[in-house]
Amino acid sequence: MVKKKTCVFISGKGSNLRSLIKFSRDYSFPISVNLIVTNNRNAKGLNYAKINSIPYLIIDVKKRNYELKILDALKKNKISLICLAGYMKIISKRFISEFRKKIINIHPSLLPKFKGLNTYERILKKKEKRSGCTVHYIDEKLDNGKIILQKFFFIQDGYGINELKKKTQSLEYKSFSEALIRIYRYTNFWKKN
Ligand code: GRF
Repeated sequence: MVKKKTCVFISGKGSNLRSLIKFSRDYSFPISVNLIVTNNRNAKGLNYAKINSIPYLIIDVKKRNYELKILDALKKNKISLICLAGYMKIISKRFISEFRKKIINIHPSLLPKFKGLNTYERILKKKEKRSGCTVHYIDEKLDNGKIILQKFFFIQDGYGINELKKKTQSLEYKSFSEALIRIYRYTNFWKKN
């Protein structure tokens, strides 16, 4: 199998990045992680780039043309797929149009419910019975694009933010990898790109 060269965008802890790197070591997993982009030079997740010798790019979002720098690095590293894994920055319409249908995101709720930030707090406040995560393509609207996969669990009595987060994130690791396998098996992405 020819693995798709993938770039993972992060802003923080990078536990989804760690999981994707781990899965990508399996010879039958359809992607390899070839580049990591972050808007946060203190992102803990950058350690996974360092210990795995994966090239990384720290961008300064205060600079006007920072997205051009990213596009340049993506081109140089022959990246054909982008995984957003906790990237806390809005991506411009122009950038999205360059990578249409090639950017996927993971969100810690059952979309279309609870788009945006502070997801866990809002889920608990609404006393939801179920929660989970969603892997989806991104489009111009926030947390809105076509859904690739969702997984859910029932929220137990007494769950606080920590429990909800822990449960959601362990489901995210499985979901991200399964979503990539699903794209590989059931779409023509791998043939086209
Ligand atoms: C994940 O829970 C993801 O759903 C959200 O940001 C979080 C990132 O966590 N978009 P990590 O950096 O992968 O640990």
